[in-house]
Amino acid sequence: MNVPFVDLKTQYQNIRGEIDPAIGEVVSSAWFVGGPRLKTFEEEFASFCGAGHAIGVSSGTAALHVALVAAGVGSGDEVITAPNTFIASTEAITLAGARPVFVDVEPESCNIDPGLIEKAITGRTRAIMPIHLYGQPADMDPILEIARRHDLTVIEDACQAHGAEYRGNKVGPLGHIGCFSFYPGKNLGAYGDGGMVVTNDPDLAGTVRMLSNHGQKEKNRHPREGFNYRLDAIQAAVLGVKLKHLERWNAMRRDHARLYNELLAGLDVKTPVEKEFAKHVFHLYIIRLSRRDELAEHLASRGVSAGLHYPVALHLQKAYARLGYGPGSFPEAEACAEQVLSLPMFPELTEAQIRHVAGAIAAFR
Ligand SMILES: Cc1ncc(COP(=O)(O)O)c(C=O)c1O
Repeated sequence: MNVPFVDLKTQYQNIRGEIDPAIGEVVSSAWFVGGPRLKTFEEEFASFCGAGHAIGVSSGTAALHVALVAAGVGSGDEVITAPNTFIASTEAITLAGARPVFVDVEPESCNIDPGLIEKAITGRTRAIMPIHLYGQPADMDPILEIARRHDLTVIEDACQAHGAEYRGNKVGPLGHIGCFSFYPGKNLGAYGDGGMVVTNDPDLAGTVRMLSNHGQKEKNRHPREGFNYRLDAIQAAVLGVKLKHLERWNAMRRDHARLYNELLAGLDVKTPVEKEFAKHVFHLYIIRLSRRDELAEHLASRGVSAGLHYPVALHLQKAYARLGYGPGSFPEAEACAEQVLSLPMFPELTEAQIRHVAGAIAAFR
């Protein structure tokens, strides 16, 4: 049996009756940028997250970049974040002109350890960027409390966590501003690139909207320079259809995670820990073990595609040599990088496929 890592073709087959007319409507209207489809999707996504405002942008990276700039982060500033994430999180910080400052993670969730943040704050710190890695929220209350005390902006990287909840509230608008990616394989994925910024602050929302459309508030009037970071109407149409299915798809992911947990119990792998404050949406289902690379090869030989998220922590990437960290700087993040393996996880995964993956892991010696 083959078990792919994700299966977007099956998802499309299941919803093509809704997707094809939605795309057709945009094409026949010829309203490709902006327009009613985008406006409706922004309103629906804001209401889904419980946010006052949502602004569609062209990717998760663009969302993070424009959020940082709108929050006033710029040259000479420092932004505190975790080192075990996709490089887009820190690319956005550098793009804004600031410097990423890493803090180690707590081992159960691989999310930023709030107990270590305060020690990393300097006179240049402007923002904290927690990442809700794998679909599980970071521990937001202590982060928000530290931010309040030091007058820092909290920018959530929710690019992997559409619909995840922290103490019963959806991630995104928990801090000052939150960012989502709609990369195709995400829990809510476009048919191309896309992203969203959400916030409860009307001024920040206005600045994000202006900056993501060339710094214009009204046509041909540019109070400042911005970016071409707009979300296009075809993506908004696709996302609007898919948003209606998101809660059900997330529930299916959670059911699959429960079955994996059950079948892998007692084997020599650590299964994911769902923190007491979290509703995890399992964008990725991660196990941990020391012989990770050997298990990945073994699974491949049995038709199972596993993934690595992420095998080298950012502070050890050549791109960040200038930051002056080295091996041992963040032991927990380094252990995550060496040990995590992502098993196939998508809503359409079948029980037989999950049993096949678990059986292959049980047969690994
Ligand atoms: C944690 C995290 N941050 C940022 C991004 C960037 O999103 P995008 O690929 O849409 O630019 C991603 C997704 O790839 C991500 O997983």
